[in-house]
Amino acid sequence: MSEEEPTLKVSKIKDGTVIDHITSGHALDVAKILGIDERRAGIITIAMNIPSKRIGHKDMVKIEGRFLKSSEVDKIALLAPNATINIIKEYKVVDKQRVKLPDTIKGIVKCDNPACISNSNEPVETKFYVQKPQPLRLKCHYCGHVMEKQDVLKQF
Ligand code: CTP
Ligand code: ZN
Repeated sequence: MSEEEPTLKVSKIKDGTVIDHITSGHALDVAKILGIDERRAGIITIAMNIPSKRIGHKDMVKIEGRFLKSSEVDKIALLAPNATINIIKEYKVVDKQRVKLPDTIKGIVKCDNPACISNSNEPVETKFYVQKPQPLRLKCHYCGHVMEKQDVLKQF
C-alpha cells in the first residue's frame, strides 16, 4: 500500500491478479504474454511509470477474474524479472510471489537459428543460459546463438 499511495489512485480489484513491480516500459510485454486484448471480459488496468521506492519507476498490470498458469509466470520472469504476482480474493492480497528467472531456461523459448539441433527432427528440449537478465540476453546451449528480448517476445 505504501509506495504509490501519494501519487497514484488506481482502483483495487476484487478477485484476480496484480502483476506489480514490472520493470518500467514492460507492461505491454506482460499484456502480450497474457494475451490481453479488447475481446477479454473483465477489468484490466495497465499502469506505467509509477514511482517506486524499490525500483525507481515501475509498471503494473491488474486483471480482474484471472489467475495465471505457471507457464505464463515463467514467461513474465523472462521480460520482467523483478515482478511480483499478487493473488487477490475478496479485495485482499492472499498470496504474493516474486517471479524467478532461473540461470537456465528450458523449453519456454525456441532457438532462432534454423540449423540448431533443437530445430531438427530430434526430440531435443531447448535450453538457454541467461547471460544478462535485463535487457534480456539468452545463449543457446546447443548452437551458441544469442537471443534478445525482441526475439523472445516475437514467440509469445
Ligand atoms: N491491490 C489491488 N487490489 C486489491 C489489493 C491490492 O489492486 N484488492 C494491489 C495494490 O494496489 C498493490 C498490489 O496489489 O499494487 C499489492 O498490494 P499490497 O501487498 O497491499 O501492496 P504493497 O504492500 O505496496 O506491496 P509490495 O510490498 O509488494 O510493494
Ligand atoms: Zn540453438
